Amino acid sequence: MRLQHKVAVITGGASGMGLATVRRFLHEGARVVIADYNAAAGAVVMEDLAGEGYEESVSFIQTDVAREPDIEAMLAHAESCFGGLDILFNNAGVGGAIGPLTETTIEDWDYTFDVLAKGVFLGIKHGARMMRAAARGGSIINTSSIAGLSGDGGPLVYSAAKAAVISLTQSAAVELAADRIRVNAICPGFIATPLADGGDPEATRRAFEKVQPWPEYGSGDHIAGAALFLASDDATFVTGEKLVVDGGLTAAGPELSKSFPKSSARNARVAGITRGSTGEAPSLRNL
Ligand SMILES: NC(=O)c1ccc[n+]([C@@H]2O[C@H](COP(=O)([O-])OP(=O)(O)OC[C@H]3O[C@@H](n4cnc5c(N)ncnc54)[C@H](O)[C@@H]3O)[C@@H](O)[C@H]2O)c1
Repeated sequence: MRLQHKVAVITGGASGMGLATVRRFLHEGARVVIADYNAAAGAVVMEDLAGEGYEESVSFIQTDVAREPDIEAMLAHAESCFGGLDILFNNAGVGGAIGPLTETTIEDWDYTFDVLAKGVFLGIKHGARMMRAAARGGSIINTSSIAGLSGDGGPLVYSAAKAAVISLTQSAAVELAADRIRVNAICPGFIATPLADGGDPEATRRAFEKVQPWPEYGSGDHIAGAALFLASDDATFVTGEKLVVDGGLTAAGPELSKSFPKSSARNARVAGITRGSTGEAPSLRNL
């Protein structure tokens, strides 16, 4: 078991790749705090995990990663339940603002950056404080995206926020190296989760089959494996890295919107905010 005696906090752990990582880390012996906005989904997950025999090693706390008091409470919860923090996976996310650049409002921008970029910043800030105080090092992993690596790999604001996550990761890795706190990012490609499949996994799979070199499409387990490597002692000398996990999508060139002309921002007939798996309704307006 590669994570025995480790304590991990996973944001966005009630769904998708976060949940797959929760399961993998538990399987590898870690004790895990699931921090997610969606309390109803969290309750279902906790019941499932208790049925799988993990009752003693997992705990849920409702968290909005964009709120500093929530992040502090989330980490205090890890301390009180499991006695510390070794691994922090800042993974929570939503699609956020969609639609053309010229129709994007400040509210669309702020919501997206609050969850995707500020949430990661706050996680690093308070996670690093706690790890530094305990003086036993640690691993912080941030979910970016291949959308953050180039233009046109995803919606404009989402991509900008994911690029910010890469920059934050690199700066934090430099600043925290002396404390033996490693900070790395994962850049997933298309991963079949509720966030990415638009409610129609089959249609999305067929669309991606056209552009992704690897025959199978991405699953949460693929990201969980990458997170396990970055969390484990096998990655002791790895920090400031952005690990692309995308079935060769970026190797083939990520100009995804050319493959999906109907969904590109240029042709969009709708703008506004999508709120992913939070349980909150989107606010969209027709153009
Ligand atoms: N699925 C993909 O193809 C893909 C590709 C690249 C990057 N990502 C990123 O991966 C991460 C996980 O996404 P997923 O695909 O597993 O999606 P998902 O919708 O299955 O899970 C995301 C989880 O984050 C939670 N969340 C959303 N806003 C939150 C907030 N403010 N505070 C706390 N929790 C919040 C949701 O409730 C949900 O449980 C996200 O950061 C996403 O941007 C996904």
